[in-house]
Amino acid sequence: MTKIAVVGTGYVGLVSGAMLSDFGHTVTCVDVDEIKINMLNEGIIPIYEPGLETIVQMNFYYRRLNFTTDIKDAVENSDVIFIAVGTPSAEDGSAELQYVLDVAKNIGTHMNGYKVVVNKSTVPVGTGQKVKSMVQEILNERNVDYPFDVVSNPEFLREGSAVRDFTHPDRIVLGTESERALEIMKEVYRVLYINETPFVETNIETAEMIKYAANAYLAMKITFINEIANVCEKVGADVQKVARAMGQDGRISPKFLHAGPGYGGSCFPKDTIALTKIAKDHGEMISLIETTIEANERQKLKMVNKILNAMGSVEGKTLAILGVTFKPNTDDLRNAPSLVILPELAKEGAKFKIYDPAGENEGTRRFEFIKEKIIWCKSAYEAIENTAAIIILTEWNEFRSLDFNELQRLNGGKYFFDLRNIYNNKQLNERGFKYYGVGV
Ligand SMILES: NC(=O)c1ccc[n+]([C@@H]2O[C@H](COP(=O)([O-])OP(=O)(O)OC[C@H]3O[C@@H](n4cnc5c(N)ncnc54)[C@H](O)[C@@H]3O)[C@@H](O)[C@H]2O)c1
Repeated sequence: MTKIAVVGTGYVGLVSGAMLSDFGHTVTCVDVDEIKINMLNEGIIPIYEPGLETIVQMNFYYRRLNFTTDIKDAVENSDVIFIAVGTPSAEDGSAELQYVLDVAKNIGTHMNGYKVVVNKSTVPVGTGQKVKSMVQEILNERNVDYPFDVVSNPEFLREGSAVRDFTHPDRIVLGTESERALEIMKEVYRVLYINETPFVETNIETAEMIKYAANAYLAMKITFINEIANVCEKVGADVQKVARAMGQDGRISPKFLHAGPGYGGSCFPKDTIALTKIAKDHGEMISLIETTIEANERQKLKMVNKILNAMGSVEGKTLAILGVTFKPNTDDLRNAPSLVILPELAKEGAKFKIYDPAGENEGTRRFEFIKEKIIWCKSAYEAIENTAAIIILTEWNEFRSLDFNELQRLNGGKYFFDLRNIYNNKQLNERGFKYYGVGV
């Protein structure tokens, strides 16, 4: 079994570390965030991710999974070091590589023998080589000559289903120039290898590009159906049926064809921008993705206009907001459409009663600047009581079977904005609500 360090214990690092320890490896998760590491050492999981807690606690109990802020110890005692730190957008839209390169520096500083350095963070093409140069530079400064290899191993897990995604990936991408490192990585992923998960073995640059191309394509697909939805609304077509029939075409597939308020999250927004920047830096233009980014921003504002046009004005009115996270089953609000939609409505004088099953902590922080306009609630029904409109922003399962009788009883308002198309006109109109979906 391999001794592994995972540097960066966020959504990707914690899931990867926990799952690799569950595969039988000894894993040390490292982070600079002392509070996070202390919580983990006390058995508290700092993020909301279904199924993760049990796996973390069990492997921690068996000492296959450890948490530390001590990077020196982690590097010295590992054969394979994963870099899983954040790569947020820098001011110019490119991926901020400072955290990745900081880790590379640390690896060079504490290296004490052959190591495989694996980049799991989403990084622009060329970063693997930068990591290699950085480690080598530090080794030269130290006047030591330890061999090491760099592997690009982008991650495709989705928040909310990360545990299953890690154990049932569509493919594992391994980009490296080294046969030795490739063999070690196959050992790391042995459980998946023997389960016949497809492995894509390629060079570092191709592996880095695969991740951006895949994310940009998915973002474009969502945006495509959103734009079709907008036209559907104008011409009396039903985007739900359009999407279903399109998806039945095997060349298209039904996934990522759900019209809504625009994509968000920690990946698509920053990765699409970073890809257009990579292209520009190399004298190319990916106009489809540039347009996707613009259209996605428009989509969020279109949702605001949809609400304002229907209600006339929201001045002084309280709106029930169901869901603020960027998707269900996560507490993550990074680039969530709610971050645009709520402040815009607040500017128009709206107040909010919000319920999100996991987003309140992060939401309280993100909406601090409009906090006097917000009441956080403990259930959908509490949020709905005495409001002028119901707005579903995130399709949490518990919003899929709302009790319409209860809604009628609690709610003074008549407007029902279903920005995830969970319900339909007929169901709500017959209960006396004015129903508005996206593209229906
Ligand atoms: N979140 C996702 O769904 C997802 C999916 C696939 C790929 N990715 C990519 O994976 C990477 C990580 O994303 P995330 O969502 O897990 O980020 P995150 O912000 O949740 O976690 C990053 C962690 O790295 C830590 N960190 C920063 N600098 C450090 C350092 N020098 N040493 C040790 N720890 C350090 C931070 O404290 C934080 O805990 C990004 O490149 C992202 O694009 C994310």
